[in-house]
This record gives sequence, C-alpha cells and structure tokens, in this order.
Amino acid sequence: MIDYTEKIPNNVDLGRDRVLQRALEHWQPAYMNWWYDMGPSESHALEVYLRTATSVEPDGWAQFGYVRMPEYRWGIFLQPRDAARQVNFGVHKGQPAWQEVPGEYRSTLRRVIVTQGDTEPASVEQQRLLGMCCPSLYDLRNIFQVNVEEGRHLWAMVYLLHRYFGRDGREEAEALLERRSGDADNPRILGAFNEPTPDWLAFYMFTFFTDRDGKFQLCALAESGFDPLARTCRFMLTEEAHHMFVGETGISRILQRTCEVMQEHKVENASDVRALGVIDLQTMQKYLNFHFSVTIDLFGSDASSNAASYYTTGLKGRYEETKIDDDHMLQNAEYPVLEVSGNKIITRHVSALTALNERLRDDYIAEIQGGVDRWNKIMEQAGISFRLTLPHKGFHRAIGNFAGHFISPEGAVLTQEAWENNRDKWMPSAADQKFVQSLMTGRVIEPGKFSNWIAPPIRGVNRQPLNFEYVRFN
Ligand SMILES: [Fe+2]
Ligand SMILES: [Fe+2]
Repeated sequence: MIDYTEKIPNNVDLGRDRVLQRALEHWQPAYMNWWYDMGPSESHALEVYLRTATSVEPDGWAQFGYVRMPEYRWGIFLQPRDAARQVNFGVHKGQPAWQEVPGEYRSTLRRVIVTQGDTEPASVEQQRLLGMCCPSLYDLRNIFQVNVEEGRHLWAMVYLLHRYFGRDGREEAEALLERRSGDADNPRILGAFNEPTPDWLAFYMFTFFTDRDGKFQLCALAESGFDPLARTCRFMLTEEAHHMFVGETGISRILQRTCEVMQEHKVENASDVRALGVIDLQTMQKYLNFHFSVTIDLFGSDASSNAASYYTTGLKGRYEETKIDDDHMLQNAEYPVLEVSGNKIITRHVSALTALNERLRDDYIAEIQGGVDRWNKIMEQAGISFRLTLPHKGFHRAIGNFAGHFISPEGAVLTQEAWENNRDKWMPSAADQKFVQSLMTGRVIEPGKFSNWIAPPIRGVNRQPLNFEYVRFN
C-alpha cells in the first residue's frame, strides 16, 4: 500500500531522495495553479466519487470514495522492478535494462518523455467545459475520472524528468504547465491535442480514438530499454483502459438510443431522426471520420528515420515487442507502406525500421476496427442496415505520405476541388456541430436521469446503482 500521509503519494521511495522530493514539492503548487485555471470548469467544490490509485497490485490497485478534485492525491507509481529485465530489441538487445539514462540518448529520451507528457494536460484543457453540459451524473463522474488520471499521467512524466534529467528536466516540467491546447503562441506539441473537444460526442470519440493512440504509444514505451520509463508506462496503461471504456461505451449508448428511437418511430432519414432529439447515424460516421483521421496522424510519418533510430537504440519498441517472433533487430526486414502515385494509391515495401510508425498505426487500426465491429452489432440487432466504417488510411491526413493529397473515405485520389466539395458530407460541418451542441445545452444532474440522446449504461461505477449520487453538488 502507498502511504497517503506523505505529501506526494508514491511507490518510488521519494522520501529518501530529498533533492527530488523538493523539486517535486516546488512543482506541485504550479501544477495546482494549472489545475485551478485549466482543469474542469466550476468543478473545484464538487465531491466526486473517484477511484484513486493506491497500489500497483493487479487486484485492488485502486480505492473509490468521494473526493474534491483539487484534493485528489496525484501520486507517482511505477510497476515493480524486474531485476532480470533486459533491453529486448535493437543494437543493445540482451544487455541489462538501463536504470539510468545513457548519456548518448539523453536528449532523445527527454524529447520522447516530453512529447508523451504534453498530451496529458492537453486533453484536460480540451475537455474543461464539458462538465457544464453533461448528459448524466454518471457521465460527469467519468469525465472527471479521466481528467484527474490524465493529471496523474502528467505527474508520472514529470517525475521522470525531475529524477533523471536534472536542470533540463525541471525546465521541461515547467514548460508542460505553460503550453495550452489550441493556443496560437504556445500550443501543445501534437496536432490532435490542439483540436477543440466541443461536445460529448467529440469527447467519446476522443477517448475511444485518441486515448487509444495513448495506449499504443505507452505500449511502445513500456518496451523501452530505459527501465523507469517502461515501468511508468506499464502502470499508466492500467488507468488508460478506463478512458477507452468511457469512449467505446459512450458511443455505444448513443447508437443504442438512436436505434431505439428510429425503431419506435419507424424513421430512417437523418432529418427525421434529428427531429426526435437524437443523433443521426450519418453524423456519427462524420465524427468518426474526423477523429480517426486526426488521431492516426499522431503516429507520425510512414517513413521515419527517427522511428528507426528510437528502435535501433532501444528507446521505443513495437506493440507487444516481446511477443513477436523475429530477430528484434529488423536490419533486413521490410514492411508495406502506401503512397500516392499519379491518381492511384500503391503499396511499396520499405525498410521495416523506417516503417515502424506505420506498423504501430496498423496495429492501432486493427484494434479500432474491433470496436467499430462491436458498434455495428447494435444496428444489426435493431434491424437497421446502416453500418459505420473506418475511412481509408489516406483520408484527411496532414502527416506522412498522404499529406497534401486529397483522398476520399473510400480511398479514391481526388482533386482538391472535388474533395472540398464533399467535405461536409464526410466530416462534421458547422451545421452538424451546431445540431449536436443544441442537444447539450444544459447539464443533467438528477441521479439516475440521462439526456434523451444517450441510453443509460448497462451498469454503474464500482457496482453502484445507476441512480447513485456520483457527484455531490451541495
Ligand atoms: Fe493519459
Ligand atoms: Fe487517457
């Protein structure tokens, strides 16, 4: 069990490293200022039924109870050390995993940690207004849970910066609190984390698609030869699972509700569906197209010498690296990537090392497809023929081989004009967003009540009933 009497709960023996403890205690007030400014709007006095990480044991790692969010105990937890762990890939394969940062990889590792760390507060900033228009107390509690855990993930990365990167690390930790999502002068590092999350449909799509990018990045870093990074990321994944659950079930519940209304009133076309106060399936597809395309950009360029060197030097592995049956060096291996040639999309085989971003993106897309298949079962069971589909990988891309090309969701290479003419058919238009937001003008906070556009979940949080008071307003 973690000792919660300490100022910063941890399982890293913080009390024995005075310099580090003082650095973190210095950073903590700055973090709290950030939380008060950029954390969930008008939430500071609320009592929220939250889970708090209290140990790293697989069973019983968290406890549930009412917490005012500014009093949430953001702690530092690493998966326990395996003394026999080795570097499992690249040129250092077979050496003992590093417990300190190798000098020659210092700046690269710092960059990797900062880039991951930057996404955590960014999503809190993106979601900060959504509590004001929540569809239920259950959902309000869930978004707050996601937000406090993203805050903890920031702590996790800041711990690594303070503990292993000295003065540069401390400066980076401060800068993580200074950038702002969507800010013109000092934006967050990655594109998708500067997009607004203006409504709950966008929030569920974000937690399904973009938190899952987080999962795949964390999985790749959990393979790192730098052991403290690997162990930190392993534990973060425990929490990440809940964020993706919120996204997947949120979309399921919207689809469920829409299908119920379509069946009950025997309506099919989008405007009739909208008139009944639920979100039409065409709009669901457009949001999916948008969130999928901006999220797969996060994996980076299809051909990347950085990705190759991260791998070769043992800093960042593949998804489930140690379960893959090959030489874990990839010097002579190839991997297929797509590119545009004239008005066609062709497959080219390139060095597997430079294609590692693409490989991680493909692993991600395979998992995403599973979720979309589960969503489609809802329509199938309702006897509705509409199916959600993932757009082509090249659709609406700003990074990699498809950047600067105009690809339809079906994978046709178009002119810019033809593409722009269809844009509002493929992605949420201003009118679509306005409609979705018109359903979410106030918050629903009566215990057990849900907005008309979303079905209740199958069960409550931590076996509590659906009408449990998940947030107390007092
Ligand atoms: Fe996170
Ligand atoms: Fe997350």
